[in-house]
Amino acid sequence: MILFDQVVKRYPGDYTALAGVSFEIRHGELVVLSGHSGAGKSTLLKMIPAIEQPTRGVVRINGQDVSRLGDTGIPYLRRSLGLVLQESRLLYDRSVFDNVMLPLVISVHPPRDAARRVAAALERVGLGGRGGELPAGLSGGEQQRVAIARAIVNRPSILIADEPTAHLDPAYAAEIANLFMSFNDAGVTVLVSTHDERLFAAHRPRRLVLGKGRLIGDSR
Ligand SMILES: Nc1ncnc2c1ncn2[C@@H]1O[C@H](COP(=O)(O)OP(=O)(O)O)[C@@H](O)[C@H]1O
Ligand SMILES: [Mg+2]
Repeated sequence: MILFDQVVKRYPGDYTALAGVSFEIRHGELVVLSGHSGAGKSTLLKMIPAIEQPTRGVVRINGQDVSRLGDTGIPYLRRSLGLVLQESRLLYDRSVFDNVMLPLVISVHPPRDAARRVAAALERVGLGGRGGELPAGLSGGEQQRVAIARAIVNRPSILIADEPTAHLDPAYAAEIANLFMSFNDAGVTVLVSTHDERLFAAHRPRRLVLGKGRLIGDSR
């Protein structure tokens, strides 16, 4: 479902962020990605929606080489993924409801039941009835749940999150981790980076560990 084959990523200035990374994630897996700061976690995750392209090697999603998708294929790929990346900020001048609606209104064929889907996504993350509020009035943990609702409103089969529990109090972090584990229970393939693997230990995730751009651990 997600395949990295000898993926190298060099940033301008010749900095090697990923130095030949290979792994395969199967449908329905829960995978926790860890590694020191600067190890390449965000770089790896951003290659799945083709935000970053490999310098060498191949990334395949459901058999498709993402670097060959082109201008029509990439939006289609991104709609099939739920993304909670560090740059996926909320719009603070829009309501919680509008934030979650965003992926639906920008698609070519907005679903007729969009409002119902938004309500269901908010319900799913424990924010039912809070759609009319502004993000700034919510706690950090609640804002993160809005970002997660926005990521799942298209009902993706793959959910990718980059340190979604960072900057949260331990109790909130545990709630967010539980949410990802419940999505995985419902059949969603989940790949999440974290500095605190213990948050996910209850579900015995597969552990991938990056060190200086190399895969130095794979519990599978
Ligand atoms: N856009 C970029 N341009 C140049 N270097 C980058 C860029 N993004 C990340 N890097 C570098 O690549 C390395 C890996 O970064 P990153 O993937 O963000 O690691 P992590 O998420 O594990 O902290 C770091 O040394 C970082 O400075
Ligand atoms: Mg990072």
